[in-house]
Amino acid sequence: MDQPSINLAILGLQWGDEGKGKVVDLLSPRFRQVVRFQGGNNAGHTVVVGGQSIALHQVPSGALHPDCFLVVGNGVVLNLEVLQQELDRLKARGFDLAGRLLLSEKAHLILPHHIALDLWREVRADKLGTKIGTTGRGIGPAYEMKASRMGVRLGDLRHPGSLADRIRQGYEEVRLRLGEAEGLPSLQAIVDGALRTAQPFLPFIGDAQTHLQTAWQRGESILFEGAQATLLDIDHGTYPFVTSSNCSLGGLFTGTGLPPKALDKVLGIAKAYTTRVGAGPFPAELLDATGARLREAGREFGTTTGRPRRCGWFDAPITAHACRTNGVDGLAIMKLDVLDGLEEVGMVVGYRTGEGGLTTQLPSCAADWAGLKPEIRRFKGWDSTRGFTDPRDLPGTARAYLEALAEAVGVPIAYLSTGPDRTEGCVYPGTFLASLLG
Ligand code: IMP
Repeated sequence: MDQPSINLAILGLQWGDEGKGKVVDLLSPRFRQVVRFQGGNNAGHTVVVGGQSIALHQVPSGALHPDCFLVVGNGVVLNLEVLQQELDRLKARGFDLAGRLLLSEKAHLILPHHIALDLWREVRADKLGTKIGTTGRGIGPAYEMKASRMGVRLGDLRHPGSLADRIRQGYEEVRLRLGEAEGLPSLQAIVDGALRTAQPFLPFIGDAQTHLQTAWQRGESILFEGAQATLLDIDHGTYPFVTSSNCSLGGLFTGTGLPPKALDKVLGIAKAYTTRVGAGPFPAELLDATGARLREAGREFGTTTGRPRRCGWFDAPITAHACRTNGVDGLAIMKLDVLDGLEEVGMVVGYRTGEGGLTTQLPSCAADWAGLKPEIRRFKGWDSTRGFTDPRDLPGTARAYLEALAEAVGVPIAYLSTGPDRTEGCVYPGTFLASLLG
């Protein structure tokens, strides 16, 4: 390999859906290994190539580059049925992953009773007014089973004779909660289904930790692809309105078994505005026509569930919090073109507290968010940034907005996306990304 090796993490800095898929896809040709380390098929990464868009849920976004080896780390929870559909769709488009996919034997399975529990719980929570608005993919229960030591790992699929015993305790606990209703399949049906779906994957299951350690020692470049984002992190997000994994940097190390010194740089991904799906605090939310316009222009509907996303201005304090949590070296600002044509563009630069003070600190308790009012700085809008490839050519008002954004967040911009296609975007000269891609 001629280019120096680099191990890079790509992490979401808001509430997910920042456009990480596009960045991973863009950078993948520079990397030999592309790794997912947390989350499951709650994620949905849309990659657009030559006008065709492909939605990926569990397969790393490097799938579209034949020289990338794809690793699903131990921190991921996997639904094999969905993975099979994903591989079939990729194959139909000419992307065959045979021989370049490794699934950690320590990754946990998402099973039908996890999904049933997730859905059952959300219906009950709705009545109690505590609904999170999960993706309904069984993510929370799968991680719960892992933490309570009732989980089923991919490696367990190699032992068909003891699989029922492995699944039984978790299954029985779910059955006790749900009762006989809700169409919960029998234990035997779940075991048979798991063994059947696992069959084609057995050659892909292996020791991902050693694979990555070896790749690192050999100096192969590794790209770590985060799913969801810091504000959805179970510890550092807007708890309890979060997902059940560590989407921020710590999850990379526990989710792969690599040490911190294996990582060189962190690229943080944020949209030029903010969105979130599901319930929870969102001070920058626009409930008016501008919010609706962002939703339409940005096609802000979930890749996984199709739900309309809540939309609002860029929120500098949450993004700065995410940058601090992850030690972000450079920002990738996505979808700037969605703000094109607005007369005025807003940015949340702080929150007014009940007492009238101004803070940029995020409360750690969900109840404390309610009293905060966003402090909005307004910028003059611009006509068009669509398809721009050089930041120096951008309209002056767009440049002023981006400069203020980088200053408020405290991290320089390394990449700017100006449209959905791979070709629509600017790499900022003088940044680590420019030398990486240069
Ligand atoms: P869960 O991960 O399905 O348990 O959902 C928990 C919360 O995280 C909900 O608010 C979801 O909408 C949100 N969420 C989970 N995955 C994603 C994602 O990939 N993008 C955006 N939001 C997500």
